[in-house]
Parts: sequence; C-alpha cells; structure tokens
Amino acid sequence: MTIRFSSSTREVPVPAEVPRHVAIILDGNGRWAKRRFLPRFAGHRQGVESLRSTIQACVERKIEFLTIFAFSSENWRRPPEEITLLRQLFLSALESEVEKMHRNGIRLKIIGDLQPFGSRIIELVRYGVELTVGNSRLTLTIAANYGGRWDLLQAFNRVHADHAQSGKTITEADLEKHLSMNYAPEPDLFIRTGGEQRISNFLLWSLAYTELYFTETLWPDFDNKALDAAIAWYRERERRFGRTSEQLSPASSERQPIALPPESDRGA
Ligand code: IPE
Ligand code: IPE
Ligand code: MG
Repeated sequence: MTIRFSSSTREVPVPAEVPRHVAIILDGNGRWAKRRFLPRFAGHRQGVESLRSTIQACVERKIEFLTIFAFSSENWRRPPEEITLLRQLFLSALESEVEKMHRNGIRLKIIGDLQPFGSRIIELVRYGVELTVGNSRLTLTIAANYGGRWDLLQAFNRVHADHAQSGKTITEADLEKHLSMNYAPEPDLFIRTGGEQRISNFLLWSLAYTELYFTETLWPDFDNKALDAAIAWYRERERRFGRTSEQLSPASSERQPIALPPESDRGA
C-alpha cells in the first residue's frame, strides 16, 4: 500500500463520510486518577485500555490511519518517576500488543526520536514495524518523544542538504517528503480529550486543514460512544478548503477535486 502525503493546500481532497485519518491527543489521564484518589500512573494504565479499545473501534469503522500522541518532546519536563513509569508502560504495551496487532492486520509506525527511550524499546519498535509492514487494515502511528517543531526542523535540514548545491526554490512537496508522516494523508479529524484546546506541539504542518474536535471527556473514559460522537461532529463540518459554501452545493461543477495552480505560479 503506497499512499503519498496528501496536501490540502495543493489539492482539494474529497472528504469521505468516515475520516480516513484520525489524530488524537490523549489527555486527562492524571486528572482521571486524581478524581479517584489514585496515583497518576493508574490513569496512564487505564489510558492504555482506552487506546486498545479505540484502535479496535477504528478498525471496525474502517478508519485507515490512527495517530496517537503518547509522549511529547516537552513531557520530559515531568517528574522523573512519572517518566520512568511511562517508559515501562510503553515497553510492556509493545511487548504484549505487537503480535496481536499483527494478527489483526494493523501496521505499526512510530514517529519521534526514540533514542532517549533506550535500546530495548528501540529494538521492540524495530521488530514491530518490520513485522507489520505489509498490513493495510489500519496504520497505527504512535508519536513518542515527538514534537511538531522537531519534525519540521529535521525536514528543513534534509531539504536544505538536498538543495544546497542546486540553489532551487524549496516547495511544499520537497519538505513533505521528509516529514515523519510522509506515508499518510493529512489528518481529517483531530481529537483532543481532557478539555484543553491546544495543539501542544503535535503535527504542526499536517493539521493545516484538519477539523479540530475538543472534548471534556478524560482519555481513560474515552469509549466507542465518545469516538462516534466525534465522528458524527466531523460529518457535520463543511470542509471548504478555501472555497465558498455555494461552490460545495451538489449542483456546482466545482464540487469535483480542484487542482491548484503549481506552487511556482503562486509565489512559492
Ligand atoms: C496524557 O495525560 C498522557 C500523557 C501526556 C503521557 P496527562 O498525564 O497529561 O493527564 P493530565 O493532563 O495531567 O490530566
Ligand atoms: C500533550 O499532553 C502531549 C501528549 C498527550 C503526549 P500534555 O498534557 O503534556 O499537554 P500540555 O503540556 O498540558 O499542553
Ligand atoms: Mg495533560
């Protein structure tokens, strides 16, 4: 399965009833635990259960890509004990889930700099990614030690290296080739649980035209009903991609996919 990065600023996608790509900031584990007078870690553990059921629900709903923000480049600022426990949870989830995912036709991808997590996690990730490379039911991407700015910078640096000699102008496509998620279409639907309304340095480039859904539900309470509510909200959106409402009416000939002029003609 080859799906190249799709760019909503270069071409207008035709939105489907079910989002092809859902990206989630799972937030609220700590508060979920606090409300129950439990240690924060209990919330993270329950969060893994929510993740397991959300993955299954996405498979059942024929969502093709699910991207999960599990640990941000800023989460290193947390207390060392919490980081150690999160690392252990990541490790044990990889140990217990990878083969089940494979049997379920799920392809695993990881974005972010895994180096600080240590060799065992790096090994398990390599194994899981290689094992599942041929699967096409759902591509599950886990963002771990990921930051949107980190991603853009590493892509800029590679493009810069490519172009240093030629002196050619850099286009969107040149950059997208080097983004960590160059294998996926842009997210259609972004979900953040836990009530905060911010991006927290997630997929800064590819969220350009994504529909943003925020819910008060804490991640450990996020179930199939909550996912369906987000999808129902998504279906109500009018995805105009810069056009007017009138252009979207069924009678309009402009409803068809529109190719924008080449970037070179738009002052890029
Ligand atoms: C999200 O839950 C999980 C991670 C960032 C790893 P939080 O741990 O941020 O939970 P709250 O926001 O403190 O409730
Ligand atoms: C965002 O959650 C990152 C992840 C879910 C991994 P945080 O809870 O760390 O976000 P901020 O820092 O409060 O915005
Ligand atoms: Mg949080």
